[in-house]
Amino acid sequence: RTPEPCTMVIFGASGDLTSRKLVPALYNLARERRLPGGFSVVGFARRDWTDETFRELLREAVNANSRSGAVDPDLWASFAQGIQYHRGSFDDADAYTRLAERLATIDAERGTGGNRVFYLATPPEAYPTIIAQLGAHGLAHSHGWTRIIIEKPFGHDLNSAQALNAEVLSVFSEDQVYRIDHYLGKETVQNILIFRFANGIFEPIWNRSHIDHVQITVAETIGVEDRGGYYDTSGALRDMIQNHLMQLLCLVAMEPPAVYDADAVRDEKVKVLRAIRPLSVNDTVRGQYGPGSANGRPVRGYREEKGVSPTSQTETYVALKLFIDNWRWAGVPFYLRSGKRLPRRVSEIAIQFKAAPTMIFADTPLNDLEPNVLAMKIQPDEGISLKFSSKVPGQPQIRPVTMDFRYGASFGVTSPEAYERLLLDCMLGDGTLFTRRDEVETSWALLTPILRDWAEGPPQPFPNYEAGSWGPAAADEFIARDGRFWRRL
Ligand code: BG6
Repeated sequence: RTPEPCTMVIFGASGDLTSRKLVPALYNLARERRLPGGFSVVGFARRDWTDETFRELLREAVNANSRSGAVDPDLWASFAQGIQYHRGSFDDADAYTRLAERLATIDAERGTGGNRVFYLATPPEAYPTIIAQLGAHGLAHSHGWTRIIIEKPFGHDLNSAQALNAEVLSVFSEDQVYRIDHYLGKETVQNILIFRFANGIFEPIWNRSHIDHVQITVAETIGVEDRGGYYDTSGALRDMIQNHLMQLLCLVAMEPPAVYDADAVRDEKVKVLRAIRPLSVNDTVRGQYGPGSANGRPVRGYREEKGVSPTSQTETYVALKLFIDNWRWAGVPFYLRSGKRLPRRVSEIAIQFKAAPTMIFADTPLNDLEPNVLAMKIQPDEGISLKFSSKVPGQPQIRPVTMDFRYGASFGVTSPEAYERLLLDCMLGDGTLFTRRDEVETSWALLTPILRDWAEGPPQPFPNYEAGSWGPAAADEFIARDGRFWRRL
């Protein structure tokens, strides 16, 4: 399906997200002819730029960041025709009056029918101002449809998330609001539901009778790069766990919805979040990287990064254990971990199954066998693998082997970027892969007590892991106490 003609207004058009993700994604959609005719972009920011300077910067950005390589000059020329730059500061009423006029002109000239997407790609401090200004200038509704995409971070704890929701929903209605979590736009993440619910053989064993535990890992090799200022007020729990890992958890643990639509899917996800047993600091381990290495090169510690306090208490690693108290999952631990400056960039969900009930092969004691693991590899090396025991030919021994599905080998195409799918879905009015108000708030409600206890507790002996290692030793002890181990990735 192709969306109806529309205009996308990007607030924060001079920022990193616009040039690294949004415009390359739009360009790729144009290349694949998935954008509607007359599709237009208005970049809203403070810099003193002309349409021409803006287009030129975006062209360079697409050249550098698009998965489709160098820009095609003809395609770019027609795509760029629809791009305009709107100079203004976010709190200047006059800028919004001019924006309304400009949008009316675009509707008339390019046939966009009053359909608008407002994209908040600014620092979160600007969200309330922009939302209020859009409301005050009658821009939250038009003679077409109007939608608003809100980037993370959506709040920094429960109170602030509730306050932001109240602000947004005083101007827009929930079905106009698209809270983005780019993990949901990843193909491999969408495939979790296909894998579970388009196949008959997995769901019968997807429960406490057969599953020993689940591990969700999102490991990064990068440090905080040039985002130290933001990250130091955030940390791994807010930056990764509250959104991305909680979303992965929901998709793995949810019940099958009766239909695949935005509300049915999100209802089931919220039920998972509501069934999670309240968490405390004792269910967590946190860490902060010190100097070490990344990709064979020495790198500085977190506290020496630009924008980071030299005595920072911000965590760059979190491990968490939680239980979902419902009939499917009672007693099955879910271990989540995410960190920066770990040895490998790898995201995966591993379902570890229970061992065979008894062992009939006398040469191999049962606990010498490796457990069956179903690993869903989100990135890189996207695929799914199943580990099971096999007889070694000509010998009595038993060894683990894997059955592997790889996207590359099976489909041979490069997957679209998460933002391509999500931008298109928003234009189509499909909120399935966006987070609803209650999801965001329930997730914050679970994690806010931990944040509070951390903030009030004694200072940590940070740094406590070397850049390029698998996190603090305490994280290994944490899972070892349950007689389990982190997967070696
Ligand atoms: C972002 C976080 O949401 O996700 C970053 O703010 C993190 O800190 C990034 O690096 C990871 O995304 P991806 O798609 O590279 O796994």
